[in-house]
Amino acid sequence: MSNPSEAELIHQFKGISFTTRSSPELLNSLDAFDAREDDVLLVSYPKSGTHWLAGVITKLYKTPVTLTNPIELGDMSKLEELNQLSSKRIIPTHLDYNMLPQNFKNKKCKMIYIIRNPKDIAVSMYHYYKENPNLPTVDTWTAFLDLFLEGDVVCGSWFDHFLSWEEHKNDKNILFLFYEDMKKNLPKTVKEISIFLGISISDEDIQDICKKSSFSEMKRDTEKENSDPSHTVCALTSNRKLIFRKGTVGDWKNHFTPKQNLRFDEVFNEKMKFSKMAKNLTY
Ligand code: A3P
Repeated sequence: MSNPSEAELIHQFKGISFTTRSSPELLNSLDAFDAREDDVLLVSYPKSGTHWLAGVITKLYKTPVTLTNPIELGDMSKLEELNQLSSKRIIPTHLDYNMLPQNFKNKKCKMIYIIRNPKDIAVSMYHYYKENPNLPTVDTWTAFLDLFLEGDVVCGSWFDHFLSWEEHKNDKNILFLFYEDMKKNLPKTVKEISIFLGISISDEDIQDICKKSSFSEMKRDTEKENSDPSHTVCALTSNRKLIFRKGTVGDWKNHFTPKQNLRFDEVFNEKMKFSKMAKNLTY
């Protein structure tokens, strides 16, 4: 059987590429979604550390919570499926701010946005494209980097995604976290999340959560025979094994040529010239 064509895998919605796992009907109906005030949204551009953050957040709760698949994944039955859940919902999404269902905004639901150095995201996404049968074939790293800088990848431009959320950096219901800070001091980030979510937690519990959320533990969990391989918080795969690749900061240095790095910096500096948060990126 030949590889599926790009048109079979990808479609455009409001100028952004989605995989065909997100139906246009669903994307069109998101504003009708009935958000609840206690929903928590876990927001990211793909490959920013979404699964890691999801692992931490679900371990923080002492009462039952349901970590759903991304809200933009599936067809029209998705909204009803989420409606049926009686427990508290932790809902992941890769949507940019403008596409986020209006009701989450109206109800001021808590949202956590995780940011990662886009150079590491580009590298992580390149490997993901190579391994993930839901994504178009990419030839070389060089060709992929061009697509990434042009925003011609699933979920659109990293720059636009980040900037759409950064506009809301002062909204009290949104917490911004950096992947690199989590790598440097996970207990500190766990504490910060617990305060934001209003969960009281002991230092001992924090240590326990950090231990269970290490890259090696999470990767091992995925490899266990009885693990649920289909529960991913990425709209681009249902295979957890594709998620845990290296889990490091700065892998871009093993991929970028000096020329590619220069070009990336040029695009970054131009697109981020009015961004305050971009200055805090480990970049
Ligand atoms: P790499 O491809 O650089 O290894 P997402 O969950 O948003 O798809 O992000 C996936 C990236 O997060 C992958 O990056 C993955 O290895 C990394 N990751 C997943 N779990 C992690 C953990 N516990 N600690 C550090 N990085 C983790």
